[in-house]
Amino acid sequence: MRINIAIDGPSAAGKSTISKRLAEKLSYVHLDTGAMYRCTALKAVQNGIALDDEEAVCDMLKNTEIRMTPAGDVFLDGKDVSDAIRTDEISLAASDVSKLKNVRRDLVLRQQEMAKEKGFIMDGRDIGTVVLKDAEVKIYMTASARARAERRYKQNIEKGIPTSDIDTIEKEIAERDYQDMHRENSPLTKAEDAVEIDTSYMSIEEVTDTIYALAEPFLNQEG
Ligand code: DC
Repeated sequence: MRINIAIDGPSAAGKSTISKRLAEKLSYVHLDTGAMYRCTALKAVQNGIALDDEEAVCDMLKNTEIRMTPAGDVFLDGKDVSDAIRTDEISLAASDVSKLKNVRRDLVLRQQEMAKEKGFIMDGRDIGTVVLKDAEVKIYMTASARARAERRYKQNIEKGIPTSDIDTIEKEIAERDYQDMHRENSPLTKAEDAVEIDTSYMSIEEVTDTIYALAEPFLNQEG
C-alpha cells in the first residue's frame, strides 16, 4: 500500500538528503516543508515586512504561490528561489516566521492538502506531531550540533554558497535549535510514536536503509 512517511528533527540533521534518497527509492514525492517557511521569510524580507508582524505576513501569504518540483527546485510566485532561500540570513528569518501561529496554520493546510493522496515523504519539525499525525512511519532524526555544522559547511562549499566557518555555523545551529524547540506554537518535539535515529556517525545509505526497513512491512500490505 501507499503510505506517508514523516521525518522531523533539528536543522541540518540530514532530513532533506535522506528524504530525497528515500523518495527516489520508493518513487514517492519528497516535500521539504522547511522550504515553505523559507519562502515565506524571503518574500517578507524582500517586501520589507517585519518578521513578527503576523497579520502582514499572513496577508502576504494569501497571494503567494510556493511550488516545489520533483527535482527539489523551489519556485516562489513563479521565480526559482532554490538558492536564495538557503542563505544564513533567510535561515534565521525562516525560524522567526515559523513562530507565527497563523503562518503555520496556512502552510500546514497546504501540506495536508498535498499529502492527501499518500506517497509522500515529508520533512520538517511538526510533521509527525501536527501535519501528518496518521503517517504510517514517523522518524525523529537527530545528530550532534558539531556533526551538523560540519555537514552544512561542506554542503555550502560544494554548492558554492558563501559560508561562515564551522564554529559560527555550530553556534547558529544551536541558536536555531533553541528557537525551534522553545517556541510556543508547534515546537519541535519527538512524536510519541516516532522512531529516533541519531545520524551523527551513520552514512546516508545506512540511514536510508534503516527507514526503508521500517516502511517495508507497510509497503507489502494490501490496501
Ligand atoms: O528545515 P529548514 O532548516 O529548512 O527549516 C527552516 C525553518 O523553518 C526552521 O527554523 C524551522 C522551521 N520549520 C518549521 O517550523 N516547521 C516545519 N515543518 C519546517 C520548518
